[in-house]
Amino acid sequence: MTQDSAEITAPDDGMSGEAVASRKVFIKTYGCQMNVYDSSRMSDALAAEGYTPTDSADDADLVLLNTCHIREKASEKVFSALGRLRDLKRSRNAEGREFMIGVAGCVAQAEGEEIARREPSVDVVIGPQTYHRLPAALHQARAGKRVVDTEYAVEDKFEHLPQIAKAKGSARSVTAFLTVQEGCDKFCTFCVVPYTRGSEVSRPLSQIVKEAERLVSEGVRELTLLGQNVNAWTGTGARGEQIGLAQLLHRLADIPGLARLRYTTSHPRDMDDGLIAAHRDLRMLMPYLHLPIQSGSDRILKAMNRRHKADEYVALIERVRAARPDIALSGDFIVGFPGETDADFEATLQLVRDVGYAQAYSFKYSERPGTPGAELADQVADAVKTERLARLQELLLTQQRQFAEDCVGRVTDILLEKPGRNPGQLIGRSPWLQSVNVDAKKSQIGDIINVRITGTGPNSLFAEMA
Ligand code: SAH
Ligand code: SF4
Ligand code: F3S
Repeated sequence: MTQDSAEITAPDDGMSGEAVASRKVFIKTYGCQMNVYDSSRMSDALAAEGYTPTDSADDADLVLLNTCHIREKASEKVFSALGRLRDLKRSRNAEGREFMIGVAGCVAQAEGEEIARREPSVDVVIGPQTYHRLPAALHQARAGKRVVDTEYAVEDKFEHLPQIAKAKGSARSVTAFLTVQEGCDKFCTFCVVPYTRGSEVSRPLSQIVKEAERLVSEGVRELTLLGQNVNAWTGTGARGEQIGLAQLLHRLADIPGLARLRYTTSHPRDMDDGLIAAHRDLRMLMPYLHLPIQSGSDRILKAMNRRHKADEYVALIERVRAARPDIALSGDFIVGFPGETDADFEATLQLVRDVGYAQAYSFKYSERPGTPGAELADQVADAVKTERLARLQELLLTQQRQFAEDCVGRVTDILLEKPGRNPGQLIGRSPWLQSVNVDAKKSQIGDIINVRITGTGPNSLFAEMA
């Protein structure tokens, strides 16, 4: 398979002897941005097999669920979706039509055999490290051999994936994700990611630069570098020296046409001086940092194996703010980790008050099979988690609204991203990752314009040309 091949002919399955050029795939993506990225790469791999994307299961020949295992609710969704697909498959097959079901992502990795056992209608189960083998797995399944492929492949999947040039006229979005690092060695006691994504691996510098250049040549103006621990990225520089995320950002900033850089998700322990300095020195690096802490209580942080204290986090935030005073902070929080007392929870609220977040995600602790947290005594009652989550979210929402209010009157650049709800309106992205509604022409998509923020809506801002 050649890279960059836009002209694709479908391989012969030996099914009918005729070219199968018009199959459609519906990919449903759950979970984090990395899954969004993976879905687009799987879509590329399937395009090379003659599949075109569709946005509904009803007219698809293949439905692929790219799943998330992070909380119980996320995993449960997969089994209910599979129930519905089973019925669809039955009626399709009754019409004599092909209908294949694939399960990819982190639930596939964690529960592949279980899925295969519970759902005979599933044709292919493929883990996050092996999805470059998806086309081969589909061929095998079509030949009557169901595939469960959840090894940690030794070969580099990224090297084996085709990158399909976007067809002329089908414009790419002006923002894109680019996975630079995968996996996690941190083993927080609540988290499944080290088990579903494996240990930390960084993609090589040259591979990342090449992919970034491609994306920019297709019209991307803003890149978000992704990793479960993106700031643990490490690579080899031009003189053979070891480099980190800061140097990677500096290297990507040199790509002509690229206007903005972001990265997510970072771990406080991997936030080094170089990266903090990049927030000061690199204008293209947007003033936004997602830096989860999970809890404000040292006792709980220890039990979570986060390996840092709350005041170290606060001191780190102060250093980041000193480097880039207008930086917007975002975080993740878990309430009701085993053993969390009222005092521990109060410490979380206090930390939130001390830091001041522009944005945050908060969750009730969910017991995950196979993680150390699930073995702990003192699981917190659900009613207590519910009450704590409501109080935390109220505080976070107040801060979020305050942050938006504080933006009103500011003059700033926004990247025009897509059409807005009303004709003559576009939605742009502020440096602080907010959606901004502004009157502008469709031809301006991809431009960066200077606006004055005039007001706030429930989930966005309003602005006029400055
Ligand atoms: N690597 C990132 C987080 C990835 S998972 C980090 O270390 O911060 C995204 C978020 O899901 C976590 O930050 C955490 O807040 C939440 N999460 C993970 N496992 C969870 C669990 N068992 N129950 C509830 N929330 C969880
Ligand atoms: Fe999960 Fe912790 Fe790794 Fe983040 S750092 S992915 S929370 S184990
Ligand atoms: Fe979910 Fe896997 Fe991402 S568990 S959050 S899809 S890494």
